[in-house]
Amino acid sequence: MQVEILGSVTEFKQQNGTLTIKTAEAEARVYLYSPTIIRINISKKHSEADTSFAVIQQLLTDFKLDESATTIEINTSALKLRINKSPLRFNFYTADSKPLSEDDERFGTNWQNERVITYRKLYADEKFIGLGEKTGNLNRRGTVYTNWNTDAVDYTLYSDPLYKTFPFFIGLHSGLTYGLFFDNTHKSYFDFGATTDEQMSWFGADGGDMNYYFFGAQGVAKIIEDYTWLTGRMEMPPLWSLGYQQCRWSYMSAKEVLDIAKTFRKKKIPADVMYCDIDYMEGFKIFTWNKKTFPDPKSMMDELKSMGFRLVTIVDPGIKIEEDYQQYNEGLANDYFAKYPNGENYTGYVWPGRCHFPDFFRQDVREWWGAAFTALTDAGVDGFWNDMNEPAAWGQNMPWIVKFGDKYMPEVRNAYGMEMARATYDGTRKILGNKRPFVLTRAAYSGTQRYAAVWTGDNTGTDEHMLLGQRLVNSLGITGLSFTGVDIGGFSGDPTPELMVRWNSLGTYTPMFRNHAIKGSKMREPWQWDKANEQIIKKDIEQRYKLLPYIYSSFYQSHTTGLPISRTLAIYKPFDELIYDTRFQNQFMFGDALLVAPVESTKTTTDVYLPKGNWYRLSSNEKYKGGKTVNVPSPLTDLPVFAKAGAIIPMQSVTQSTADSGDGILQIHIWNGKEANEFVYYEDDGLSYDYENGAFYKRTIRFNPIKKTVSLSAVEGTFSSRFHKVKFVLHGFDRVKLKNVLLDLKDGEMEVIF
Ligand code: GLC
Repeated sequence: MQVEILGSVTEFKQQNGTLTIKTAEAEARVYLYSPTIIRINISKKHSEADTSFAVIQQLLTDFKLDESATTIEINTSALKLRINKSPLRFNFYTADSKPLSEDDERFGTNWQNERVITYRKLYADEKFIGLGEKTGNLNRRGTVYTNWNTDAVDYTLYSDPLYKTFPFFIGLHSGLTYGLFFDNTHKSYFDFGATTDEQMSWFGADGGDMNYYFFGAQGVAKIIEDYTWLTGRMEMPPLWSLGYQQCRWSYMSAKEVLDIAKTFRKKKIPADVMYCDIDYMEGFKIFTWNKKTFPDPKSMMDELKSMGFRLVTIVDPGIKIEEDYQQYNEGLANDYFAKYPNGENYTGYVWPGRCHFPDFFRQDVREWWGAAFTALTDAGVDGFWNDMNEPAAWGQNMPWIVKFGDKYMPEVRNAYGMEMARATYDGTRKILGNKRPFVLTRAAYSGTQRYAAVWTGDNTGTDEHMLLGQRLVNSLGITGLSFTGVDIGGFSGDPTPELMVRWNSLGTYTPMFRNHAIKGSKMREPWQWDKANEQIIKKDIEQRYKLLPYIYSSFYQSHTTGLPISRTLAIYKPFDELIYDTRFQNQFMFGDALLVAPVESTKTTTDVYLPKGNWYRLSSNEKYKGGKTVNVPSPLTDLPVFAKAGAIIPMQSVTQSTADSGDGILQIHIWNGKEANEFVYYEDDGLSYDYENGAFYKRTIRFNPIKKTVSLSAVEGTFSSRFHKVKFVLHGFDRVKLKNVLLDLKDGEMEVIF
């Protein structure tokens, strides 16, 4: 094996927004995307097509160079890239020349055959966060990871890789932040200072280009904003998908699905979504219904809808090899399946037995797949769960000689799931017209937030998995995935009743709130856990529905800025050492206002770290001074959740589903604080794309403790709120004139003095 390390610059030129630099080994291209985003692409053989699954923005066509005998510099208002000419190395600084990230002078970027790696200098206090769905600690310093989308069935607390690939991380040191997105779909590797005697961090891939985007904005939130500007942000989700979701592998018939839905209504436990796992199909054939057990999908759907329920059905990529099966015949006739280089279709085993796999990298295949969803939408389904799309086949990795599009499996495997989700999203969006589809996917690559929500696959019913799941959700939020969830209760194994209760409480504060379990496990619906537990579970689900105005507004914030709903405290207080402490690293902000401390089901008291400032226990309004660790009660009836001083949280009364119009009162809850605060309240019809054309209802809620006012700005947008009254509810105030005021909700500016 030969090692080739980038040597000295032989020539360079700048043209059409591209700085091209040659050495004997390779050619580097440098592009500017914004004053805080610079792309470097180093390759031995650039592909002129230069495509990306992730990136949706264009480069800037003009930037200035400053050249000296030894360096070439690009200086923006925020960032300095200093390129050393001999040898060629790329070093990033703040505009005032503080180092952010520098190549290792000795090794920089280099190749060992096709494998390309970049070695970087490691700073003494450097921390790393990111990579999305990865096990381990919030601070990834001292660990190594591989990206290779895998059907990680029964994964453990330390398994790597899992289902998804997000080669994006944020580095923090010396009070500074930077981000780096290595846009390469080959199997890739990240070493955060684990193996080099604290000298270097490094990243690379088995093939392709050293193609990365460097983010120089200051602040973790700012970097996430830039990263999601580059790779896209989520659309507004259908409101119903934010309600409680009941799933299980082995709801075996329409009758069973309906019975469960009816039980929710009978017991007045709010819920919005039922799921059908693979058992609704005929022999696990995608786009079919089992005629015996689901004889009339349309009437089942009508009945579900009349109860205010939606249905999400699963689809897997594997198309069963069986004569007279429409998808098989069409796929064969039109050559839509992944192939060996001699033109034979690849065959692998999944649930249906022998299968072929759609080549989702082709536009015509995506269109064909997308159009087939009428088999589900005709009945009234509008949620689509994309599973097994790593792609999974028994025996795991497909042969490396299988071709997708014009590439071989190892080159694009990590984007297969994303392309399936894209095909599902594009197809169902077209079929459903102006209605928002809900798409859920297990495998993903950077940018998947444009098409789908994700969940963290086949976890296990233990306390440790519950806490790990929270870290996965928090970390997915760093990489642009805001709409995320875990199987509540754990997919495999049987959780204790205590764990089920606790996990459900945490579900209230998870972007996607879905209860799911493996076939053969004990039944998991809220009423399977004895009367007392059922009441706790019900109360927590009710809490979710009360918070929906806040949650939906937080999704709007994510749609416009990329900030996640569940936010690791590293977004809020990146340089506060204690938030990385393994005792507190699972804590997170749920939106702007709430701090949630996940805690094992076995603990009735727990230590919580409250960052600087004042906090109020949500359940009791008890006040805590932050900047320290506090020991608080954590009985199963009361997950530790705290409102930040000054918090503004719009809420509503309990409804039985998002289809239930409720009592028409918008409650604006404020917790006392010394500083003024504001919150953007957002509402639309929750179903259509009309919000893209102005049919939304948006206003800023302001709290001013000096003037003692709470105000609502005049309404922006053409949508009429479903609320007609507003109630202001003040917490933690002594001696105020008004604690609860009920007023008509007017469109113009409103203000109350308390
Ligand atoms: C996979 C999925 C799981 C699903 C099962 C059956 O294991 O991860 O959620 O229930 O397949 O379809």
